[in-house]
Amino acid sequence: MFELHTIILICGLLLLAAMVILPVFFGAPWHPLLPGTIRRILRFTELRPGETFCDLGCGEGRVLIAAAKEFSANAIGVEIDPLKVLLARQLARMNGVDDRVRVVRGNLFDFDTGSADVLYLYLTHQAMDKLFPDILKKLKPSVRIVSYRFCLRGMTPDKVSEDKTLFLYQLDKGTKINTYH
Ligand SMILES: C[S@@+](CC[C@H](N)C(=O)[O-])C[C@H]1O[C@@H](n2cnc3c(N)ncnc32)[C@H](O)[C@@H]1O
Repeated sequence: MFELHTIILICGLLLLAAMVILPVFFGAPWHPLLPGTIRRILRFTELRPGETFCDLGCGEGRVLIAAAKEFSANAIGVEIDPLKVLLARQLARMNGVDDRVRVVRGNLFDFDTGSADVLYLYLTHQAMDKLFPDILKKLKPSVRIVSYRFCLRGMTPDKVSEDKTLFLYQLDKGTKINTYH
């Protein structure tokens, strides 16, 4: 009835659809970024060599890989989709940064962010509302939180990109932590 290559094509499309659509129900859809956007995000964070860069919902790990490769950071990410975890680990190996990129398969809402110098988020407002304000208690006081596309509701950013797609929050525990509504 169906030829083998048609079945393979249909399976591939179903897999891709699952990788894009299923994560919506866990926190955020998958939306791979252009290389120029990744570089712009990392420059915006003012990431320094040796800092720990953490990506909650790291997808295929390209932001982590660029953080390690181009900014000499230690990069750590968590991703719920096992296929993207495999892809991210493979890409890190292929880019020669698997010693500085750690990709954990898990739920971002349970992830330990205590070592992050920079916490990067590309999630939905709904997911961030679930994370904040509780996550603030688990972060270093000096952490820089950078969110792409979605600002943190109830917190005032310390820096906003010209096109208003990037928001940086420099935590100041004890004051801003209480201003989240
Ligand atoms: C918009 S993408 C961002 C990917 C990457 N951070 C980037 O900037 O390119 C959101 C990612 O979060 C993942 N995700 C959604 N809900 C999650 C959850 N509860 N725990 C871990 N990862 C999750 C999705 O699978 C998807 O890869």
